[in-house]
Amino acid sequence: MVRDEQNHEIVCGKFITKLLDHTDPLTYEPKTEIGKRCKKNAQWLYFNGGRYWTGYRKAVPKYSLAVLFSSFLMGEIASSTIFHQMANGCSEPVFQEAFKNIGKDEGRHMAICMSLMERDYPKLDVSDVPTITKQIRAGYLFLSGILFEPPEDFWDIPKDFIPAQRDAEEIARNAGFGIPTYDEKKENWRTAILNLKGVLDKYNIPFPAIPEVGITGEEISDVDMEDIIPVF
Ligand SMILES: [Fe+2]
Repeated sequence: MVRDEQNHEIVCGKFITKLLDHTDPLTYEPKTEIGKRCKKNAQWLYFNGGRYWTGYRKAVPKYSLAVLFSSFLMGEIASSTIFHQMANGCSEPVFQEAFKNIGKDEGRHMAICMSLMERDYPKLDVSDVPTITKQIRAGYLFLSGILFEPPEDFWDIPKDFIPAQRDAEEIARNAGFGIPTYDEKKENWRTAILNLKGVLDKYNIPFPAIPEVGITGEEISDVDMEDIIPVF
């Protein structure tokens, strides 16, 4: 899985280098107004990613493998969904091929998580159950930043972040990069979450309420950046 993720990182790095003619979006000097807004967004994502990584490193040793794998599964379902969705909507052949292959890798990671859960969840410690429910809500808030739109009460972003993201995505969508629309993202994210719910229901693990995409369930209100452990 680590090797796959490194391959994905290489793919992203090559795309950036090719399109910007520069290896790093954070030190690139944009030449257009939209470029400047995008660079600012990239810096905010980098900053939030750093907060997440600090929280993640503190959180991992606190939880059992069973708790970790429910969060990992959420990330893998989310990533395989988005990459397949982008491969389907993409008309740039190189990108389409890359998204298809990355989606295939993510689907394999998802299957690995599911087999581990099948092995371990029948003997799940009852004290882990509320933690899993809370983790799924945390995973939703965190991954929404990548798969949907970042919730402002959880992600530390300025007011102009979402408008800039929408404008940039509109341009990339029209250029054929397969960026789903707001409604398509919402529908896909909802489907991915319902798939996860299907898995957790089998083991009688209560699902959190996710009213943002119309899913009712247990109210979870005390989520912060310190607790999150999803991966992609
Ligand atoms: Fe993955």
